[in-house]
Formats: sequence, structure tokens, C-alpha cells
Amino acid sequence: MRANIIGTGSYAPPRVLKNQELERIVDTSDDWITSRTGIKERRIADNETTNDIATKAAKSAIKAAGVSPKDIDLIVAGTVTPEMLFPSTACFVQANIGANRGIPAFDVSAACSGFLYALDVADKYIRSGISKKALVIGVDIFSNIIDWKDRNTCVLFGDGAGAVVLSAEKGKSGILSTHIHADGHYWKMLYTPLGVASSPFHNKPAEKSYLKMQGNEIFKIAVRTMGAACQEALDSNGLKAEDISLLIPHQANMRIISATAERLGLPEEKVYINLDRYGNTSAGSIPLALDEAVKKGLIKRNDIILFVAFGGGLTWASAMVRW
Ligand code: ACO
Repeated sequence: MRANIIGTGSYAPPRVLKNQELERIVDTSDDWITSRTGIKERRIADNETTNDIATKAAKSAIKAAGVSPKDIDLIVAGTVTPEMLFPSTACFVQANIGANRGIPAFDVSAACSGFLYALDVADKYIRSGISKKALVIGVDIFSNIIDWKDRNTCVLFGDGAGAVVLSAEKGKSGILSTHIHADGHYWKMLYTPLGVASSPFHNKPAEKSYLKMQGNEIFKIAVRTMGAACQEALDSNGLKAEDISLLIPHQANMRIISATAERLGLPEEKVYINLDRYGNTSAGSIPLALDEAVKKGLIKRNDIILFVAFGGGLTWASAMVRW
């Protein structure tokens, strides 16, 4: 039994924040951002929450799959910017889309690898026969946790959501492999402290709940781990880089993506890029890119699609799919 992706959907808030507007907020320039990252603009959720945008992406994936919300028997959402500490984003989506009461719904926390972590979990539920139709979501609203005075980070991120519906089917197509990894020793490279309610028992003041990042260090590790994760996926399926029809990498930085593609020897046209328009949308990044690629007709039956991500944790992950 394999998990087939039978529908994709995505949603990005309509508010566009261009590099030129950022020039008026922090000491930066369109030229610096473009040349160091490849990002030209990103979307900002000025009026919508994580649950809102996750629900929109989920509804569009369910519609594309041609199934009813009542067919869904598992919901897993990857996010590190939930609207509430609890209930989970997945629980809100369950209620918002009108899925059946009683099905399992939960979030996984793996920052930018969140969607692939969620996909890994759902794939295992399907392979084991527990789930027949799973909804997998990647969603983040980083604009809520960014220090908008910090030019090192505020130019990099954007808000967005994507989702897929997985269906248990026999045959050659579907998710061929998933690999997920973490190294908590590197946690300080990228983290966001939790803003806590004031307690008379705390003797340490809470840190501001802003994202903190050692960009330069992450950059080097990202280049290494993205390349190694792609190779691991190829090796475990007995495939070669030339078998890849499309690489859909986490959209963090154009230079990281180019280095990964170069290491694999993949030509530009086999790498899907949309970070110029969305920036780094964390867990939203891969399913948002996948949905665009599907809608543009870039993916055909039997194509081999490789997804690869890295993020806070540090975490990294891959998924290989035969379409
Ligand atoms: N505008 C202008 N100058 C800037 C800006 C900015 N927005 N940001 C930093 N600079 C300056 C720095 O202050 C530094 O100046 P200095 O030399 O006077 O000290 C100079 O530019 C160079 O800074 P570097 O950090 O060396 O720049 P680098 O080329 O490494 O690019 C970047 C920085 C874009 C952050 C890069 O390191 C990167 O992309 N790292 C990976 C980050 C990432 O992907 N994080 C997300 C992980 S996924 C997740 O889980 C969320």
C-alpha cells in the first residue's frame, strides 16, 4: 500500500511586501536582498491567522482531490507558528472543513522541515493500513515572530500554507520514501523563545518571543545537509540524479538551492523555484511550491519528484514521490 498524492492546494495571503518597502523599515536594499537571497517579495498575513490560511489550503487540496472532507481519516499539520499553543492547528482545520468527529488530528513541530515531517507521519499511517485518506498541511506565519527591527532576519521570511490529500492505493506510484532527521545540539542556530504568561513563580524574565538566527552558520549546514539528504533519498530508492524529474526544495535562499542542485548535477529547469515571490514560508514552503508546479502542469504521471528541506531544530528531511 502506498500513499498517493491525489490533490494539492495552497494559500498565500494577498498582502505583498516588496523589498523596496522593507528599505523603509530597516537599513537594507533591494539589491542586497536579491543578490544574497533571491527574494523579491513575500506575503504577509495582516488579517488572517494560521488556522485561517491552513483551512484555505486544506479546502483547496480536498477540492482538487475530488473527495469529501468526510473521507479524511487523519489530519497532520506541520507548523511552529500555531494560532494557539493548543488546540492544535490540525484540530481547528478538522472543525473548519467539517471533517468527521473523532479522527486523529495533530501538529508536528520541525520548523521548515515541518511539512516533510508531517508527510512522513501520514505516510506511515497509510502504509500500516490505519489511514485511507490523510490530509497533510504545512503552514507558518513567521511575520508574527519576526523582529521587524532586525534586518538579518526580517527580509527572509513570508507567510503561507499548502496541503495535500494522500490516498492509500496499490501500485507503483505514490510516496516511495521519506527520511527525517534532527540534531538538537544545534538548537541555538535558529529558535524562537516562547512568550509566557506572567507567573509569580518565575525568577527569570521571559525573553521576547522573536526569531533568533545564526544565518551564516545555518547557511553552511544547510548546503551540506540538503545535498546529503537528496543523496540519501536517491540511494534508498536505487535512483540516480538524472532520474529526478523535478526537485522541489525548501525555499530559504537561492544560493542554498543552487548549491544543492549543483551538487546533484541537476539543470535549472529541473528545480522548482518560487522564493522570489514568497520568501521563506517555513513549513508552507514545499507544499506551496508543489501546488504551483501542479497547477502549471509541470508534473506528469510517473515523474519522480524529490522534496528536500532543512530548518530549526536543526531538522532536515526528504521525500521521494513517483507521481
Ligand atoms: N540588508 C543589508 N545588509 C545586511 C542585511 C540586510 N537585510 N542582513 C545582513 N546584512 C549585512 C550584515 O550585517 C553583514 O554586514 P557586516 O559585514 O558589516 O557585518 C553583511 O550583510 C554580510 O552578512 P552575512 O550574514 O555574512 O551575509 P550572508 O551572505 O551570509 O547572507 C543570509 C545572510 C541571507 C541570512 C544567509 O546567511 C542565509 O540565507 N542563511 C540561511 C538562513 C536560513 O535559511 N534560515 C532559515 C532556516 S529554515 C527554518 O527553519 C525557518
